[in-house]
Amino acid sequence: MANNRTFTMIKPDAVANGHIGAILDQITKAGFKIIALKYTSLSEAKAGEFYAVHAERGFFKDLVTFMSSGPIVAAILEKDNAIEDFRKLIGATDPAKADKGTIRNLFAKSIDANAVHGSDSDENAAIEGNFFFSAFERF
Ligand code: TYD
Repeated sequence: MANNRTFTMIKPDAVANGHIGAILDQITKAGFKIIALKYTSLSEAKAGEFYAVHAERGFFKDLVTFMSSGPIVAAILEKDNAIEDFRKLIGATDPAKADKGTIRNLFAKSIDANAVHGSDSDENAAIEGNFFFSAFERF
């Protein structure tokens, strides 16, 4: 994946609360182009694989249970400076600390159910995009 791309998920809380449209609207209005998009879900095993880096953390089991609790939307996004700009658009991991107007400030209720994921590096964006999408599913 090129360095101007990031990967996102709209998490089960935001999907269940009917925020898919509003979140995609914010993302595209912020200048991100949707390269790939999928409405899907994660099994516990797949959620554990996706978040393997957090396997030793106290919140890991709850995170896996939450991320496999309902449908999600996965997407690959493109924009100059995608990783940093998208992290700014979504706000801090804990929505109580997220800047006003950010996606987590507007749509998340707690640190564990925080509405959206955003990759933290170019390398992870490529790994995460490949986790959900095969080559013929992205443009
Ligand atoms: P992390 O990679 O630290 O945050 P971000 O999603 O902002 O990159 O953590 C991954 C997810 O794990 C986070 O979105 C929500 C969950 N999490 C908790 O439930 N409790 C916590 O204390 C932390 C740090 C994360």
